[in-house]
Amino acid sequence: MTWFAIGSMKDIPRRGARCVQTPQGRIAVFRTADDQIFAIEDQCPHKGGPLSQGLVHGAAVTCPLHNWVISLETGKALGADEGAVRTIPVNVEGERLFIALDAIADKAA
Ligand code: FES
Repeated sequence: MTWFAIGSMKDIPRRGARCVQTPQGRIAVFRTADDQIFAIEDQCPHKGGPLSQGLVHGAAVTCPLHNWVISLETGKALGADEGAVRTIPVNVEGERLFIALDAIADKAA
């Protein structure tokens, strides 16, 4: 598995996100209020909304377009909605963040 450096925890505000462009597409990296880091595809399973611009609450994000709630842990839509985005493994070393690009490629294959 290849870990790809994506910067520092400080680059992401609490309850915020940043986008990372990768060869396998745009990834949204979230930081929760309690400093957990999650990475998922930046594309809502409903109609492709930019999840990185959504509202983070707990370990979930609300899509800015039509308010689907997506679990950051599983990538699945919560509640009555059905769908899922891919989740990407994250490694945190001190303040430094890495995502596993091979995992993205594997899951896309
Ligand atoms: S595109 Fe995300 S809820 Fe519709």
